[in-house]
Amino acid sequence: MIYNQWYVILESKELKKQKPLRVKRFGEELSLWRDYTGNACCIADKCCHRGVSLSCGSVVNGKLECPFHGFLYDKTGRVTTIPANGKNSPVPEIMKVKSYRTFEDYGFIWIWWGDEEKINEPPFFFKELQEFSYSTFKDDWNIHYSRAIENQLDVVHLPFVHKTTIGRGNKTLVNGPVVKRENELITFYVNNIVDDGKTIPLKPDEIKDYKSLFYLQFYYPNIWQNFISDKIRVFAAFVPVDDENTVIYIRYYQKLIKIPLLKQLMNYIGKIVSVVILRQDKRVVVTQLPKKSGMKIGEHLIMGDKPIIEYRKHRQELIQNNEIPSHNAENSE
Ligand code: FES
Ligand SMILES: [Fe+2]
Repeated sequence: MIYNQWYVILESKELKKQKPLRVKRFGEELSLWRDYTGNACCIADKCCHRGVSLSCGSVVNGKLECPFHGFLYDKTGRVTTIPANGKNSPVPEIMKVKSYRTFEDYGFIWIWWGDEEKINEPPFFFKELQEFSYSTFKDDWNIHYSRAIENQLDVVHLPFVHKTTIGRGNKTLVNGPVVKRENELITFYVNNIVDDGKTIPLKPDEIKDYKSLFYLQFYYPNIWQNFISDKIRVFAAFVPVDDENTVIYIRYYQKLIKIPLLKQLMNYIGKIVSVVILRQDKRVVVTQLPKKSGMKIGEHLIMGDKPIIEYRKHRQELIQNNEIPSHNAENSE
């Protein structure tokens, strides 16, 4: 995983009031709950007293109470009360677990996976989506999140994996694609055509009118959107669980229809279509080896893989520029 980043880790509605939640992210077991103002809190899911899972406990006055001996944790991971020692006794400094800064908006919860002092701004989101309504589908994939992301940057697979859906028409010849990266935002333009047997694909710099083409965007470390039209988007968040597992949140966004029941119906249909397409991807992508992508993994890439090449290159730069402290080194990619 890339260190020092905000990662979408959960949908807001999954974290209920008064009910702690255990999730695995970045190979770590985490415990989340909402404090009395409703803010999402996130700490390591292992009590520093005798190691039980804190998420089996309860929320008491906005804090998380361990189910075993009732130690109370605040959102910074510090124990504030040890009942057996009496409310009046001070709590030793060492009584604490790791905590994570959270951010919540757009129906998602992010956590900062990195050094606290490196946080300089809230996470990026495709803000225009605020005007859209949406439906969500959540899916577990047995593959590293980098592979799941690369699949959504892959313009070559469309006529094969999605023959019966979005890849209809046998457009196997891939012009370009044109790939533009501005800091952490990659935009890539798709120009696939039917192969007449005589044409050689255009190189990216030979496509002059690329801005009129269909395009998609990825923002590091883990969100993506597909511009179906001005009023319809498909969004995805690729949430790292561990080195071999990812949770994918797919959202169908639209602002074509605003009438309540019709809107729900359209969002539901949009979701079902997205699920069908995603399942076509999943069947193939989870078979990829190695399960984690990287710069030197023995693959022979082609011109059409340009968005994937750009993703790998910049991912590598971000990993190198954000060194993980040694106690976290097992999650180095
Ligand atoms: S194990 Fe958590 S309070 Fe004892
Ligand atoms: Fe696909």
